[in-house]
Amino acid sequence: MTIERSTPTGFPPARIMGIESSCDETAAAIIRDGRVLLSNVVASQVDLHAEYGGVFPEMASRQHILSIYPVVEQALMQAHLSLTDLDAIAVTRGPGLAGSLVVGVNAAKGISLATGLPLIGVNHLESHIYSAWIAPEEAEQIPPEPEFPLLALLVSGGHTELNLITGHLQYERLGATLDDAAGEAFDKVARLIGLPYPGGPSIQEVAREADKNAFKFPRSWLDGTWNFSFSGLKTAVLRTVQEIKNQNGELPAADLAASFQEAVVDVLLKKTLSAARQYNVRQILVAGGVSANQALREAFIAQDEFPVHIPPLKYCTDNAAMVAVAGYYRYVHDQRDTLDFDVLPTWPLS
Ligand code: KG4
Ligand code: ZN
Repeated sequence: MTIERSTPTGFPPARIMGIESSCDETAAAIIRDGRVLLSNVVASQVDLHAEYGGVFPEMASRQHILSIYPVVEQALMQAHLSLTDLDAIAVTRGPGLAGSLVVGVNAAKGISLATGLPLIGVNHLESHIYSAWIAPEEAEQIPPEPEFPLLALLVSGGHTELNLITGHLQYERLGATLDDAAGEAFDKVARLIGLPYPGGPSIQEVAREADKNAFKFPRSWLDGTWNFSFSGLKTAVLRTVQEIKNQNGELPAADLAASFQEAVVDVLLKKTLSAARQYNVRQILVAGGVSANQALREAFIAQDEFPVHIPPLKYCTDNAAMVAVAGYYRYVHDQRDTLDFDVLPTWPLS
């Protein structure tokens, strides 16, 4: 007789390894029962790309090749497990850089072929959403999981979108950015005002003590839609920078950063709250690299209309723990992929 362990999710127990290589982090992690983190390894290439002011795709894929197996081995060692203790391998299939995705996917296929473990391709945006299910290692008790219907604001370097989530793996995209993603806007504006890559953390850092009302930058509300646009804001920063430079003035980088950040946070918060009201959701979830932004986190936490889930900082930017959680929910819903699947560099969530 087998005695089934009870799980925090109510779904069957399983240990899933996640593998992530969609952009500039090579990562592997193991999650038990969809929530409990057993190991989490991230090899970041940020320093490598900083020199170029952005991700250099060719170098990213080469670096993934060098890092992928050591990272997988380390994830197993940290968890004190071997491959035979796992139930499945989940890997980011897209969206992302084709040459980067292929490295993680081929590694996962190799492991699956060698061990017979089921292979599960997952969407990177879905992984960001499931980062809110990761129980932080330091937490004494597993915190409550997000409740459906849920409104998810996904804000990363490649995407900015609002999704209505009615149940596990059930998404309806309400709107998305028409031009730059929020993270992309942070990265581009940082470059305009002379701050290093990645722009999000740089802007946040200098904005800390600065005046967020120093410049009145425009907000694109795009009323009547749940879409976003950040190109007008970026152009407004560019014009201001040019005017100051033309007058041979010193660039007030900190005030520019704070005013730009305020404009982004304002739009993201207000549009998310309106959509949450309109769709009568129970809770809000904010995820993706930009959800690491302190001003954005504080703005969402300060409102008291909806309970908000924002992952701990280390699970906001790309990692494999979130891939393993998304893989777990795919696994318990019987998704199994065959070895002939290909990467999907542009793959919408819904
Ligand atoms: O999710 P992520 O790691 O990769 C993608 O899937 O795109 O997001 C990376 C993006 C970058 O644009 C970076 O500037 C932004 O997230 N980011 C931040 C912060 N930390 C990372 N943006 C604002 N504030 C931050 N603290
Ligand atoms: Zn990401």
